[in-house]
Amino acid sequence: MATAEIAGFDARWLTLREPADHAARNPDVAAALAARMAGADTARVLDLGCGTGSNLRGTCHLLPARQDWTLVDHDPALLGKAREVLAAWADQAAETTSGLRLAKGSRDITVSFRRADLTEGVLPLMDPVPDLITASALFDLISVDWMETFADDLALHRVPLYAVLTFDGAMRIDPSQADDAAVFAAFAEDMRRDKGFGPAAGGEACRELHRVFDRWGFDITMGASPWVLPAGSLASELLTGVAQAVRGRLPEGVAEGWLAARAAAPRVVVGHTDILCWPA
Ligand SMILES: C[S@@+](CC[C@H](N)C(=O)[O-])C[C@H]1O[C@@H](n2cnc3c(N)ncnc32)[C@H](O)[C@@H]1O
Repeated sequence: MATAEIAGFDARWLTLREPADHAARNPDVAAALAARMAGADTARVLDLGCGTGSNLRGTCHLLPARQDWTLVDHDPALLGKAREVLAAWADQAAETTSGLRLAKGSRDITVSFRRADLTEGVLPLMDPVPDLITASALFDLISVDWMETFADDLALHRVPLYAVLTFDGAMRIDPSQADDAAVFAAFAEDMRRDKGFGPAAGGEACRELHRVFDRWGFDITMGASPWVLPAGSLASELLTGVAQAVRGRLPEGVAEGWLAARAAAPRVVVGHTDILCWPA
């Protein structure tokens, strides 16, 4: 889930969610990527909306021994944080003219950081053409029109996509209560707000991604990657963000009353989907 609604995209929120994001990833989709990449010695990867670099940390073990990542975001503070967090995460890190060179386990990874606005599309970022485009928790904030052009560009250059943790519209609290449905419906509506790409696909994003790549005959592997959150800081921050997002969409006091009753819920489930689209 791209969760601009919850906490913007601040580094603290991205750090809080990273362990849940990595744990939620669908193992079959990950294995399909690893199998596709198995014969390669190197991979040039373009990561869209990189935040603090979580997707590199969660994906590099699926890719060949030598990797060259370009991390793209429009937020310079997040790009700076990504550099800092990746250097601390690696077994060894050295500064290079364009970014970092990292050793992590058996992987030799170069990383460059690029500030760019994705609303302008990916073509300007595809020189040189990458072997793989990745994104984590991004596509639910993107519009269907943007996805259509994106799929056209990837089909033209025969570039695969691995996109993880796209919100699929499903939210649940166990045990459920009567007003959960109204709050989650209002939240789903809020997720469709325009974040600069046109009306966001929100909970329809993975179905739309499947449709636009299927149109070009890509071989597609999809699988569920839900967050299943016990009571704790991530669940509580998520529910607080949901209540804030829906406040103006529900009668006065409903969101606050709901949060007071649900803040310490024992289990929150947020549906996501991972997808691998490979050019036929
Ligand atoms: C939910 S965060 C996900 C970050 C990271 N991929 C992760 O999984 O932790 C979405 C990211 O997309 C970036 N983003 C949003 N709109 C963007 C745009 N128009 N151009 C570039 N990056 C954008 C945000 O700055 C943020 O880092």
